[in-house]
Amino acid sequence: MPHLDASRSGSFRIGGKLEIHRLGFGAMRITGKGIWGEPADRAECLRTLMRLPGLGVNFIDTADSYGPDVSEQLIREALHPYPGLLIATKAGLTRTGPDRWIPLGRPEYLLQQVHKSLRQLGVEQIGLWQLHRIDPKVPRDEQFAAIKSLLDQGLIAHAGLSEVSVEEIEAASKHFPVATVQNRYNLVDRTSEAVLDYCARQGIGFIPWFPLAAGDLARPGSLLDAVATRHHAAPSQVALAWVLRRSPVMLPIPGTSRLAHLEQNVAAVDIELTDAEFSALDDAGKVVFESAAPA
Ligand SMILES: NC(=O)c1ccc[n+]([C@@H]2O[C@H](COP(=O)([O-])OP(=O)(O)OC[C@H]3O[C@@H](n4cnc5c(N)ncnc54)[C@H](OP(=O)(O)O)[C@@H]3O)[C@@H](O)[C@H]2O)c1
Repeated sequence: MPHLDASRSGSFRIGGKLEIHRLGFGAMRITGKGIWGEPADRAECLRTLMRLPGLGVNFIDTADSYGPDVSEQLIREALHPYPGLLIATKAGLTRTGPDRWIPLGRPEYLLQQVHKSLRQLGVEQIGLWQLHRIDPKVPRDEQFAAIKSLLDQGLIAHAGLSEVSVEEIEAASKHFPVATVQNRYNLVDRTSEAVLDYCARQGIGFIPWFPLAAGDLARPGSLLDAVATRHHAAPSQVALAWVLRRSPVMLPIPGTSRLAHLEQNVAAVDIELTDAEFSALDDAGKVVFESAAPA
């Protein structure tokens, strides 16, 4: 097997400063079923995390709500004090049980959760902190002002948003520099195409969650098969190669709890799609997306 190195995905500077390799890791899957409690195979999750630096993956996405707490705790156990790594976390969703996610954006709650993440991760400052959801029950300007105050206090170095529109990014930008946006995006989910283009124009990092459509794009029998066969690759690798090629601000964070899947995902950085393959996949993905969209 050739030497695996995520640095070959290229680099991006978060907030124009913090340099990371574009292919990152999503740490939501290192928890129990329903993103609740301890993972079924804790040792394998730790092995997966500990392999990240050796693979050149230096950008890890987590959240207070993954477990809750479990993901941040495992990251600390495996990787503290994080030499050369950016551990990005989030808050703004409470958990009342498996698969239950409830927005909570009251400023005092966001502040509390940032303090909790600092303690769980064992750091004095969070390099990138993201508002997991804008809470519709709380005036958004109060949530944005809370983020500004977290930056001013130095508790976080850069701030991002998740599941937002262009209008919401512009509203938040009046309060603080938006460094990243994390929206659902993959070959067959193009809802956030306009947000991605906006981020590219503004130099904002775009973090596509669900880059593998939660594993659907990893299964054989999809529109990825022909290109995958040509490159002697797995469909999931072609899905990642496609998102990486889609934009220089794209920072995919495929999530896995297994070392073998992590290594396979990192190997995707070496797949070079031809212009024709990229465009054919682009068109086919849009057709699937549009046919699935409600009329
Ligand atoms: N901002 C938000 O609201 C939000 C929401 C959801 C997720 N996220 C973030 O985005 C990250 C990625 O999203 P995601 O984990 O939901 O979806 P994803 O990356 O599209 O897919 C993850 C699923 O695919 C499987 N998988 C991964 N690599 C594979 C491979 N090489 N071959 C076959 N199966 C593979 C994983 O199972 P195995 O564990 O078995 O490999 C897992 O079930 C999360 O980890 C999290 O950090 C953010």
